Amino acid sequence: MANNIRGFNSKFGTIMAATGGAVGLGNIWRFPYTAGSNGGGAFLIIYFLFVLFLGLPVMLSEETIGRRAQKNVLGAFKVLAPKHKIWMAPGLISIVTAIVIYSFYSVVAGWTLNYIIASASGLLSGKSPDEITEFFNTFTSNSIFPLIYQFIFLLLTIFIINRGVKDGIEKCTKILMPILLLLLIVMCIRSLTLEGAYKGVEFLFKPDFSKLDGNSILDALGQAMFSLSIGMGALITYGSYMLKQDNLFTTSLWIAGADTLVAILAGVAIFPAVFAFGLEPTSGPSLVYIVLPNVFNSMSGGTVFAVAFFILLSIAALTSTISLLEVPVLWANESFSWGRRKASLIFSALVFVLGIFCSLSFGCLSNFTICGKTVFDLFDFITANLLMPIGAIFFTLLIGWHLPKADVYDELSNSGAIKPKLFNIFYFIIRYIAPLALLVVLISGLL
Ligand code: PHE
Repeated sequence: MANNIRGFNSKFGTIMAATGGAVGLGNIWRFPYTAGSNGGGAFLIIYFLFVLFLGLPVMLSEETIGRRAQKNVLGAFKVLAPKHKIWMAPGLISIVTAIVIYSFYSVVAGWTLNYIIASASGLLSGKSPDEITEFFNTFTSNSIFPLIYQFIFLLLTIFIINRGVKDGIEKCTKILMPILLLLLIVMCIRSLTLEGAYKGVEFLFKPDFSKLDGNSILDALGQAMFSLSIGMGALITYGSYMLKQDNLFTTSLWIAGADTLVAILAGVAIFPAVFAFGLEPTSGPSLVYIVLPNVFNSMSGGTVFAVAFFILLSIAALTSTISLLEVPVLWANESFSWGRRKASLIFSALVFVLGIFCSLSFGCLSNFTICGKTVFDLFDFITANLLMPIGAIFFTLLIGWHLPKADVYDELSNSGAIKPKLFNIFYFIIRYIAPLALLVVLISGLL
């Protein structure tokens, strides 16, 4: 094949790599609780609508930008909008966003490695709920150990990135993603077959519209964007690796569908088990790192399931950190001819330095706040509420208003080889609805 020198080898590899980027801690750690506490089924309905009518079109726009330009995030805008300097902005913002997300994301990814080791060595078994909470607090507030695990996680990511796009990213995600799905299905079966599991299923799926308010809608949209990895150029980067003969509509449907499925399966794996043992579903890190270890302790064969679960979580995180690091690496590679090794080392070093502040946010820097937020929370807030919506607005404006419609159609129809049936709906959303909706989100998120 003449046109795959630059990027991925196959459509399957493309979908695995991009789905790997999308499926991450956001799906397994953040989605279940956000859905559960925002009215379960009611939140799910809004979430689906956002994925379908906003997430998918923005995803498709990013892929179109990347594949059309055949360049990194910044280079793509230079190719597609060469006349005006303002179009450098989304490229630069994307690179910054990737680095900032990676800094706090790798902290939590590192915790996961520690939990694999702790569960495998029996450190968590037989502990009382208080002791498990104590374990979590002592570990995360320590100044050294979390950094070591974060460092290991950065090294793993560098190792794969260094092997290249086909032999590193594509090969490794093609192996890891099926393992992830298999582990998740095993966890779901285990959870659903526990006595009293139905209460968790109810918590997740039964629509309770009374719990919905303006914030839930913002939560749903923020979650959808973070989970699909849109608005920060990862999909422009991967889009530039997509094959010219692939149908970008179906590729995007696969990615968004698989990402949503994994999020729901994670909820099914977690809540029935939590309720079956009479525990309370709590928020954020504690659901996965405190509530679940208690669940595993009460379950027969709990150690095996605990290890399997934290391996699953690490895989999800790793395929995402790969997509995060690839954004600046490809940019430096194409802009300054840095080799992949040099680029990945330099950006990882930068991420590690920023990551120290994020990690210490749970310990000695927990009282150091900017605008009332610790560094970890600030990085999370700035990326999700500010940088990603801004990035996404630029992407939609480029596709909807800057590029000629004929060019967009040409890219999505593979130069006329296929007929993208939904093109007009897509174009309408990207031109009018998406930028406005994103603007509303941006403003309300800031207020
Ligand atoms: N989508 C990933 C998750 O759900 C997070 C992520 C965001 C990864 C942006 C890459 C880019 O965990």
